[in-house]
Amino acid sequence: MAAGSREQWNSRVGFIAAAVGSAVGLGNMWRFSYLTAEKGGAAFVALYLIFTAAVGLPVMLAELTLGRGARKSPIQALAHYGGDRWKWLGAVFVAAGFIILSYYSVIAGWTVRYACEAIFTGFSDDPGQHFAAIREGWSAFLFHAVFMGATMGVVSGGVIRGIERVAVIAMPALFVLVCGIALYAATLDGAQVGYRYYLNADFTNAFSMDVLISAAGQAFFSLSLGMGAMLTFASYLPRDSHLPNASLAIAGADFGVAFLAGLMVFPLIFALGLQSDVSESTLGALFVALPKAFVSMGGVGRFVGLCFFVALVVGALTSAISLLEVVVSAAVDGLGWARQRATLVLGLVITALGGLAAWNIAVLDVMDQVANNLFLVGGGFALAVFVGWVMKDPIGEVEIGAEGVRWFLGWRILMRFVVPAVLLVVLYHSIPTTIKNIWELLTTL
Ligand code: PHE
Repeated sequence: MAAGSREQWNSRVGFIAAAVGSAVGLGNMWRFSYLTAEKGGAAFVALYLIFTAAVGLPVMLAELTLGRGARKSPIQALAHYGGDRWKWLGAVFVAAGFIILSYYSVIAGWTVRYACEAIFTGFSDDPGQHFAAIREGWSAFLFHAVFMGATMGVVSGGVIRGIERVAVIAMPALFVLVCGIALYAATLDGAQVGYRYYLNADFTNAFSMDVLISAAGQAFFSLSLGMGAMLTFASYLPRDSHLPNASLAIAGADFGVAFLAGLMVFPLIFALGLQSDVSESTLGALFVALPKAFVSMGGVGRFVGLCFFVALVVGALTSAISLLEVVVSAAVDGLGWARQRATLVLGLVITALGGLAAWNIAVLDVMDQVANNLFLVGGGFALAVFVGWVMKDPIGEVEIGAEGVRWFLGWRILMRFVVPAVLLVVLYHSIPTTIKNIWELLTTL
């Protein structure tokens, strides 16, 4: 590539596939299901949907606008619109990328391991004990390192030959797998009990602060918002792309896959009477309850389980790619490093950092809370303040390529008032809890 020129997506579909690939991942399948189980089923789903539409979607459009307009990675993009005074926010985004990818890849490593087991040995007869044995320690680190290696391989290939090429194959494949498993789950006796839990709203505890905080954190995590991933991908867009439509497509696909994931997980778990395994949910519950379900279904279960974990691996890979791309593009734009060198050096740093999460699952849990409740929600808040109050003429920027579209004009109002206000309330309540959890972790280590 000639110096100074920036890579650009090959096609509109390629960009959408990569952005959906970033959004759809462990967040939709693992995190969404376990939070839905923990926070009371359908009421949580409803709240999460409201957050996605009213808070997530506007922030998504903001990230796409900043990225496409500046054609730079987050630190330079913020400086482009806000001057050097705003560079810190881009740096916070990059820091979030380091933290999230380091533990995300450990969970992804578990899914790689389970997919291999489905192929070579079958799932263990005692999934609880098995998970306890593999979730931490050297073997967890090894699978994490393998997964990081694959992520680095794709990112070092660049935007078109690496990221886009993988996404246009991986995303349709993932969609077919998820639909297939959801259809299969529908045929199980007792599936209705699962649907009832998942879809019948019980709003009695829906409006507790705790549920609200989780729904907000989950919306940001699942849409890959608040840390510049969407911003970075949008920096490779041509100037005339239609951003409001793109953000609708990405958010719609993300919610769609989360919803489908619920349609596969809950019937499976309830049909086999495993709800007690999930109700006192911890972040590992699905890695215990689902293999139990698969084992009890015999040969078919092994195949369905293989499809399930392959879908998780594929989703995790395309998300991890976007996390690493944030960090790599920051080094390429900011330090002038070559892409391959940035990928190798920073990928190895993240692999090492992930050692902390692979060493102790309690550390992983706290990293996840810090990343979501502080970094992503905090990043989203700062971004809303920036676009709502600091940036000159955001509407003029977003309108390029979408002239005459009117529905998003409410966007400015949402970014000025609604999004910052809601996120401020969430932060106000989540910061003390998160600090308390960090403190508890430090005192028990
Ligand atoms: N959205 C991804 C998922 O749902 C995770 C992610 C978060 C990716 C933040 C990039 C940035 O799995």
